[in-house]
Amino acid sequence: MFPKWFDKWNSDNPTNIFGPAIAVGVAGSAVFVAAMIVGWGQPFPTDSQQTGPRGTGMSVPEFVSDLEAGDPAIEDFVTSEPIVPTAGSALAIDTLEGVPDSLANVTVENYERLLEAMRSWTGIEDLLEPGNDGYQTEVAWSMIEMTQNINQNWAAHVQANAEVGVTCYTCHRGEPVPNNIWFRVGPVNNNAAGWPAIQNRVTMTSNFTSLPSTYLEHFLLQDEDGFYGVAQVHDLASRVENLEGDPLIQQAEMTYAWMNYFSNSLGVNCVFCHNSRAFYDPTQVTPQWSTASLGIIMVQEQLEQYILPLEDVLPAERLGPIYADVPKLACRTCHQGEQQPLNGLNVIANWPELAVLDDVPDYSAFE
Ligand code: HEC
Ligand code: HEC
Ligand code: HEC
Repeated sequence: MFPKWFDKWNSDNPTNIFGPAIAVGVAGSAVFVAAMIVGWGQPFPTDSQQTGPRGTGMSVPEFVSDLEAGDPAIEDFVTSEPIVPTAGSALAIDTLEGVPDSLANVTVENYERLLEAMRSWTGIEDLLEPGNDGYQTEVAWSMIEMTQNINQNWAAHVQANAEVGVTCYTCHRGEPVPNNIWFRVGPVNNNAAGWPAIQNRVTMTSNFTSLPSTYLEHFLLQDEDGFYGVAQVHDLASRVENLEGDPLIQQAEMTYAWMNYFSNSLGVNCVFCHNSRAFYDPTQVTPQWSTASLGIIMVQEQLEQYILPLEDVLPAERLGPIYADVPKLACRTCHQGEQQPLNGLNVIANWPELAVLDDVPDYSAFE
């Protein structure tokens, strides 16, 4: 195949060609990969939201592909524009049966429209059907007021940024009982100085860590004296003896379990709310920290006013496994792993009926 002189020269000058070939191959592949990354872009690009001053490393990165995919639940959100009432419009409460007092100012057309949407949002086909006196009717009355209360009185949380508000769908997503509800958890050992010691158990609630599983009840339900648990870890004084009022290691563990829950509920890391060099310092937090703080009080209030009283209303099969307590809501029931529920979809725009508590719905945006 080759000329004779070449074969001769070749056999007279034996050389190991593998070394250089491998070197050239490796260098060539590296150049190729680099060229592809420059030419085609990074295969898993990320986008990041800066949450603190430059140079502090405070940013929350996310994969662009996740951001673009969006929340699949958005597609199933049923909504329709309100029918602006005129002077002659009849109120549902005067005309129809089974209209809850919380919707006393709603006209017949808008009540029917809302009922249809609420049935789709909760997946309960006969919700508020006249003559249907099952427990779901009483729960729904309470839920409507709770939704109105959240939208009217907690706008600083649920309208904080993208102005999205809350409807039944935010929590329910087409199911009668929402995902991400929680129950009280039983103690392992009541003798551990008043701490339930429910640790080193693999539970969903502890996010599979060895931290306590009882942090939600600790921070969100009142204790016997009417107090809520306080998130605290340490101050900066160095001392050997614990002084009166110093946080204990158990409080630190509760706090970290709770913070883990925050991060997982919103799909963010700690610097979304804190400057991680100073978790203890409330002057170095981000604006989201304040929204989160309001969120805590908002959840405490809804549990106290609307959810806990349902204990006597719900049938036994809906109650918790250990204390037969009501299924409860918290951050994750609305957020479901996202910074803003449903990727910041404005769910309230078309539903002035659910935006006010004990007041006339405002249809001015539709006139
Ligand atoms: C009733 C439903 C609901 C509950 C419960 C809830 N949130 Fe929210 N949260 C929202 C909505 C809706 C928004 C988006 C508001 C906006 O951007 O207009 C939001 C926004 C936030 C933000 C701001 C996000 C941003 O983009 O700036 C933070 C932080 C937050 N929530 C934390 C929490 C924490 C922590 C809890 C639990 C203690 C909690 N939320 C409970 C509905 C809820
Ligand atoms: C902030 C979250 C949240 C919102 C918003 C919400 N719910 Fe609920 N809902 C829950 C939780 C948690 C439960 C389970 C606890 C219970 O049954 O009391 C529940 C249970 C229910 C049940 C009982 C279902 C069953 O079969 O046990 C009904 C009915 C209901 N909701 C109706 C509604 C309606 C109607 C709306 C809107 C007007 C609404 N909910 C808005 C959290 C919410
Ligand atoms: C959505 C916002 C948010 C996220 C995310 C978050 N935190 Fe917090 N953190 C708060 C708020 C609000 C408080 C105050 C709670 C209170 O006063 O009850 C707090 C309190 C704390 C405290 C107690 C501070 C003190 O006073 O001693 C520590 C420690 C802490 N967080 C650590 C973390 C860690 C670690 C992470 C990440 C795993 C994290 N946080 C994620 C909002 C957040």
